[in-house]
Amino acid sequence: MAEMRVHRALAQAGVASRRAAEKLVQEGRVTVNGAVATIGQSVTETDVVEVDGRRVRAEPIRTYMLNKPMGVVSTASDPEGRRTVLDGLPDDVRLYPIGRLDIDTTGLLLITNDGDLAHRLMHPRSKVPKTYEALVEGRVSSAAVRALRNGIDLEDGPTQPAKVEVLDRQAAGGTWLRIEITEGRNRQVRRMCEAVGHRVRRLVRTRYGGLGLGGLDRGDHRLLSSAELVKLESQAGLAR
Ligand code: URA
Repeated sequence: MAEMRVHRALAQAGVASRRAAEKLVQEGRVTVNGAVATIGQSVTETDVVEVDGRRVRAEPIRTYMLNKPMGVVSTASDPEGRRTVLDGLPDDVRLYPIGRLDIDTTGLLLITNDGDLAHRLMHPRSKVPKTYEALVEGRVSSAAVRALRNGIDLEDGPTQPAKVEVLDRQAAGGTWLRIEITEGRNRQVRRMCEAVGHRVRRLVRTRYGGLGLGGLDRGDHRLLSSAELVKLESQAGLAR
């Protein structure tokens, strides 16, 4: 296993948030192989980490990018037995998706066992940009684009300003839009488009927090690179 800072290992093991774990280290309550841990000390799976004398087992942190296919649910398990986004991923650590995509939305979904990272990214305060490409019914007017940009009054409150671009007005089946939002409300893009009179026919998430799909094929997954993780953690306000 790769080395990680002891406070990160504690957060990963669910002992405390990274900040609170750092405090535990500062207070001298954490030991590594019997010696009091120091801030920033690195540990691996083979080290014995204890808090107040109790052994803590850390899983290796893993964060994957999945290019979600159609017809797959964004939950860890489905009572109806449908395929989930975790099918096909390694099951040696307890993974869950960072947020949700609708069953008929495709594209970029992050999946992790890093509770701290997931929590921060999903928090409304994080304002992580998410970019979608939507094929909507009909020809979209400039007034509708302006309305989407400025914010739409939905039943759960007005949406924050969004970046909206028309990609193709002549597409078969309607108009392709690119929409970047910083919130993550349920079915938000579909509801925004419907509110201006355009039902969404296809919805693809192409970017999340500055990360793109690159060449990842539909249905495939890969681990994030360390450069991608650094980018994401800084978006989430987490220092390494
Ligand atoms: N907005 C939606 O409407 N659906 C998604 O799956 C994601 C964002």
